Amino acid sequence: MTAEEAAALINNDDNVGFSGFTHAGCPKVVPVALAKRAEAEHAKGNPFKIGMFTGASTGDSIDGQLSRAQAIKFRTPYQTNKDLRNAINSGEVKYFDLHLSTLAQDIRYGFMGPVDVAIIEACDVTENGEIVPTCGVGISPTVARLAKIVIVELNSWNPKGMRGMHDLSELQDPPYRDEIGIKTVRDRVGLDHIKVDPSKIVVVEGNTPNEGGCFAPVDEITAKIGDNVANFFVNEMAEGRMPKSFLPVQSGVGNIANAVLASMGESKDIPDFEVYTEVIQDAVIGLMETGRIKFASGCSLTVSNPCIEKIYQNLDFFKERIVLRPSEYSNNPEIVRRLGVIAINTALEADIFGNINSTHVTGNKMMNGVGGSGDFTRGAYVSIFVTPSVAKGGKISAFVPMVSHMDHSEHSVKIIISEYGIADLRGKSPRERAELIIENCVHPDYRPLLREYLERGEQGQTPVNLYDAFAFHEALMETGDMKNVKWRK
Ligand code: COA
Repeated sequence: MTAEEAAALINNDDNVGFSGFTHAGCPKVVPVALAKRAEAEHAKGNPFKIGMFTGASTGDSIDGQLSRAQAIKFRTPYQTNKDLRNAINSGEVKYFDLHLSTLAQDIRYGFMGPVDVAIIEACDVTENGEIVPTCGVGISPTVARLAKIVIVELNSWNPKGMRGMHDLSELQDPPYRDEIGIKTVRDRVGLDHIKVDPSKIVVVEGNTPNEGGCFAPVDEITAKIGDNVANFFVNEMAEGRMPKSFLPVQSGVGNIANAVLASMGESKDIPDFEVYTEVIQDAVIGLMETGRIKFASGCSLTVSNPCIEKIYQNLDFFKERIVLRPSEYSNNPEIVRRLGVIAINTALEADIFGNINSTHVTGNKMMNGVGGSGDFTRGAYVSIFVTPSVAKGGKISAFVPMVSHMDHSEHSVKIIISEYGIADLRGKSPRERAELIIENCVHPDYRPLLREYLERGEQGQTPVNLYDAFAFHEALMETGDMKNVKWRK
């Protein structure tokens, strides 16, 4: 059927589950038709808003189009779209931020309401209901099974030969869940397709390119952060705290994560390694071609369009080295802890005691969401947070007396790295942690201020001063620069 006919199957107030993870593997044609339908209904004075379940963020065809059409009532679990972010922060869209590994099971448990319709991008679909996803999986097996209607967006821009790159299944629900049989990064426990009752499938055909942007080139700051991470690993192996054969790596989303992997690849003292992560970015593909990365397990190929085209042209090579899984497997804490995954994620803000804010600007404005950072951080062999020491030209220090929102607590955060150096927080008391972070990671402009704060802290296990804990944020809100801090007490 046409995209418009498929969009007409979706009603006001329906919950819709979308395939994909980041822009990768997301439908692109039916959501645009759905946004137009919402606008047409609104013009007639009718309500039209849907609830949305996705794997993670999506492309502009979903989050951008639907938020601009004011067609979103509820959204979970992660987003990066500017228009949707504005709608969330203005209160227009209800947003529920949660760990990505848990959404599929939360839907199955009935915590999120029904899935009325699933829209799944596929490179192939068979008459007996076998759906082969494209370059991102997310929650597709779960929403496809539970939905009353499955709209398959058959996108011939993605080759049918992708079949075989995926490992697709759903976890059993308690009390029947068994151990997950993934004992190495390469293990497979599922099928190469999603099997759905064919009577509930409708197909919309198209040929639409991916919506992948390009990564920013590595700059001086991100290169230094990357080098510091690589040096940390070299030292850990030399000290015998990390196996010389190395461990699987998870690295977060965005430019910094991409730069960190590139530095690791360049380090001659780090052996060839494997990746157990959620998003496989451009740097991983480059390092796979040079042999530095031997294998990657992920949830999506979140790569630029030139990179995905390269993968599609050399499918045989990459199918031997990549497996794409649903997010409840790619991000599963049981597997992360068993494999001893090294987790590297980016902080928006850290406090001097080692608590991390990954999500909220000044405590109230949602940036993206916690994503998979918590799934990996808590279970990791060693959990690392990286951040440039300052943001917005130095007016914001990434290191503050107390985080304005907490996503990862001092109990899970082992190492913090900025362009200035490494703070190894393992086995350290809060005061020791604060001294290490200030000396090794904080921008020199902010070191005296944070030392002053630490000296003014109350005695106790953690020397916070509740009068001044948010003095940096207050200075930012009142003067636009955290350096203009005024202590209350
Ligand atoms: N206060 C206000 N703004 C800040 C800030 C702070 N403390 N720190 C960074 N920013 C701004 C930057 O200036 C930049 O703004 P711009 O887009 O206007 O240039 C923006 O936040 C992004 O920061 P950047 O330094 O470019 O890092 P990034 O693109 O790697 O994003 C996170 C950082 C934390 C937002 C991102 O990694 C994220 O969403 N993390 C949570 C989810 C996650 O970790 N997923 C991975 C699991 S596999």
